[in-house]
Amino acid sequence: MKRRHFLQSAASSLGAGLIGLPATLSAKTEFQPELPQIIKNIDPHDDAFWKLVRAHFPLTRDRIYLNTAGLGASPHVSISALKNKIDALEEISETGHEHELWLNIKNHASQILGCNPQEVAYTRNTTEGVNIVCNGLPLKRNDEVITSTHEHVGNIIAWLVRQKREGIRMKVFEPSTRSAQENIDRIESLITKKTRVLSLSHITTATGQVLPLKEIGELAKAHNLWYFVDGAQAAGMIPLNVHEIGCHAYATSGHKWLVGPKGTGLLYVKEEMLDTIEAKWVGAYSNGGNFDLITGEVHLNPTAQRYEYGTVSVPLFVGLGAAMEFLLRIGQSNIWRRVHAMGAALSAGLSDLGAEVLSPKHPDEHSAMITFRLKNIDRHKLQSFLSDEFKLRTRGIYEGGLEGIRISLHIYNSFADVAKILEGVKAAKNL
Ligand SMILES: Cc1ncc(COP(=O)(O)O)c(C=O)c1O
Repeated sequence: MKRRHFLQSAASSLGAGLIGLPATLSAKTEFQPELPQIIKNIDPHDDAFWKLVRAHFPLTRDRIYLNTAGLGASPHVSISALKNKIDALEEISETGHEHELWLNIKNHASQILGCNPQEVAYTRNTTEGVNIVCNGLPLKRNDEVITSTHEHVGNIIAWLVRQKREGIRMKVFEPSTRSAQENIDRIESLITKKTRVLSLSHITTATGQVLPLKEIGELAKAHNLWYFVDGAQAAGMIPLNVHEIGCHAYATSGHKWLVGPKGTGLLYVKEEMLDTIEAKWVGAYSNGGNFDLITGEVHLNPTAQRYEYGTVSVPLFVGLGAAMEFLLRIGQSNIWRRVHAMGAALSAGLSDLGAEVLSPKHPDEHSAMITFRLKNIDRHKLQSFLSDEFKLRTRGIYEGGLEGIRISLHIYNSFADVAKILEGVKAAKNL
């Protein structure tokens, strides 16, 4: 297909399929499982196409937003779906918690995660998923949990509190940015007869490092360990298949790279693990039918639905469903190739400027999040300078004692943004 024709067809798919979506939403057509992959192999440098994608976001152009790892910006289609659902439900004062709708949104989630819809539970954020897994696993005093020094606080506190309360023991390794094998070796060197759990990020919050999850999964299997992955920084950025990773559970946020409403999350729990990761917070929607107060009989839902309980905001998850549909239509591998290319360009440009790039350089290990620092200026001053003088919204990184600046590049960012960041860093170097 000639490039121009291809762009036209890609653009018209986006235009009709996504721009038109809010106006045509109805209770029945809101979510169609098994969406066809409309757009194939978009060139990461096809500026005309990616500008069209950018147009779907109300995100201000008064500054350059580079903190998707903190919070993602939502497209119109998601915001409209959320607002429309609020309006519709407020008119009739109903929760809108309908089985078919719930499952249809989980169909989208399962396509993003690479699992069955029955293995997905809705949460409020990644941290809630971490808490469900950490507190649900049958651990006892002196059982060991291995994690890294580059975890986000969301995948630390729950484990530390359980350590304090019940005497489990945390063991940590410092991720190496030199080679994937070095990380596997570091993890393996910590495994003892008492090790029960590996709890690691898919993509680390500190440097955007992509950990070799499949190989770590093989290690977990060989040592009979439970394997939990914090995917807050991965879902929506990188093509994902939790079954291939071989993890037992995987938690992520809807409000970062999935560009969904704030206060949404997804938790994958492998079917065979549903009874092992005990659902501790339960109620309406967690139960699988009848219960009997007299005999004490109670059954939990046979799916991951058991981790959900009580009334939640249905509009938030309708908005998340629309956001996931938006991403699926662009195509997860198109998104990854685009944001990965921007990350590579930024990393190379920063190195050329003499900045210390803390993220891995290897294409298999770096992501769309690049962390760096400058020798002549501390991270607080650098962040303020980039914000005040270049209107760049970045995030300071203190995790792992790195004291750097993290840049996140998503589908609403561009190579022009990368050039602007490099301009800002060059100016900061000369301060
Ligand atoms: C790796 C990682 N895990 C967990 C979290 C916490 O996410 P949430 O606030 O959605 O629970 C973050 C947030 O930045 C993160 O980077």
